[in-house]
Amino acid sequence: MRPAERVEMSSLNQGRPARHSCVVGLQWGDEGKGKIVDVLTADADVVVRYQGGANAGHTVQVEDQEYIFHLIPSGILKKDTACVIGNGVVIDPRALIAELDGLLEMGLDHEENILISDRAHVVLPYHSALDEAKESAGGDGKIGTTLRGIGPCYTDKASRVGIRMSEFVDPNGLRERLVHLGELKNRELEKLHGRDPIDPDVVFEEYSAYAERLRSRVCDATAFLHEQDARGAGILFEGAQGAMLDIDMGTYPYVTSSNTSFLGLGPGTGFSARKVGKVFGITKAYATRVGEGPFPSEMQEEAAASLREVGGEFGATTGRPRRCGWLDIVALRRAIQFGDVDAMVVTKLDVLDHLEEIKVAVSYKVDGAETDQYPASTECEVIPQYRSFPGWLESTTECRAFEDLPEKAREYLRFVADAAGCPIAIVSVGKERSQIVSLDPWLEPTPVEGD
Ligand code: GDP
Ligand code: IMO
Ligand code: MG
Repeated sequence: MRPAERVEMSSLNQGRPARHSCVVGLQWGDEGKGKIVDVLTADADVVVRYQGGANAGHTVQVEDQEYIFHLIPSGILKKDTACVIGNGVVIDPRALIAELDGLLEMGLDHEENILISDRAHVVLPYHSALDEAKESAGGDGKIGTTLRGIGPCYTDKASRVGIRMSEFVDPNGLRERLVHLGELKNRELEKLHGRDPIDPDVVFEEYSAYAERLRSRVCDATAFLHEQDARGAGILFEGAQGAMLDIDMGTYPYVTSSNTSFLGLGPGTGFSARKVGKVFGITKAYATRVGEGPFPSEMQEEAAASLREVGGEFGATTGRPRRCGWLDIVALRRAIQFGDVDAMVVTKLDVLDHLEEIKVAVSYKVDGAETDQYPASTECEVIPQYRSFPGWLESTTECRAFEDLPEKAREYLRFVADAAGCPIAIVSVGKERSQIVSLDPWLEPTPVEGD
């Protein structure tokens, strides 16, 4: 493998002119957003997480060093980049501090670059305990969550009983707030789930120390973003999870509890999505999913096991084996539409290098009727209709230009751009930062007659 130089990214100048851009997942998460955010951070002054929490696991590989970010934006590796955790994120202070300490151990003292929205909600031990209790209750209700307390924390936000960062770092009244919320949550834990209550004094003891440490990082992040915009800075927004896990547009109820797509940007930051000129949607060259829920193009376990091995498909947060399947154009097209995606980034193309045959789901039979739309119900029978492609059977990991890619790989990518109706701006051919193909010009979908 070549050394970890950054590849010249002239593909970024294509499409709509934009000072601010956004990276989102187009599938069920783990598309490689962390790697792409790290690459695009070269051109950004500010990187912003706007939803989700420590359920995310975003990996950046620089030479032999692997970094996994859960709450800290993946732009943190570039010194002097402001890294904002927006109001739409739910923050577990324990997880955040563990992450900050992990960076310090690796010699990265970038804590001063982190800004935390005073409006972000706090994940507390009650939330994780409730998440675990609900998931282990048995029956049909299991989602296969990351057990990071995400759903219960967003529930409290919507129920208007949650604690926000501004209150969390205010020493006046934190104990009372924790006791008040503790009473509510312990009732749920004990009465509904037969669990032991959690002593608010013990929570206070541990968490007041976290509040102390984080206090100087908490600010009005919305005001900060507007100031940065006014002074001409470039802002990169980093989505977590993926479009099909979006609470409104995903495979409900098998979703996470936030708007994981571009839809979450405005409410999650207080910064107008209209100012964000370019949205990059990340998709693997195949598909994966962690947890329960529909996955129409899922492979038989034997094929999945092989892809999982080659692609290292194990969760960056929980270590769970990821379910593997073929690329699903029906789901992808929908994610591109509702996420207002300008261009795709296709990652992990190299994982397909060894396959003789590559399949793509191009339409569905839903309860017997042919359709190219994703159904709302998770109950119906969905049988994907596949198109098959010959594999290229050679390594793509050293390719750095579109022309370097094997002809059959280029044909595959052309088909994906055509079928999804969206250009491809970047192709990723390995986990390392430099293993990237920047497409200039973008690979545009073939114009349809009459357009
Ligand atoms: P994220 O949550 O979207 O940031 O993705 P994850 O970090 O959870 O999972 C993506 C995994 O694929 C990580 O282990 C990355 O290091 C790895 N990865 C990213 N891009 C590529 C690629 O092009 N090829 C290969 N082989 N691995 C990649
Ligand atoms: P990144 O940002 C993949 C999945 C969980 C579960 C569902 C709900 O790394 O792509 P939650 O804990 O959020 O209540 O779980 O969502 N999930 C993810 N899957 N990547 C993620 O994040 C995920 N975050 C949550 O597996 O199915
Ligand atoms: Mg991940």
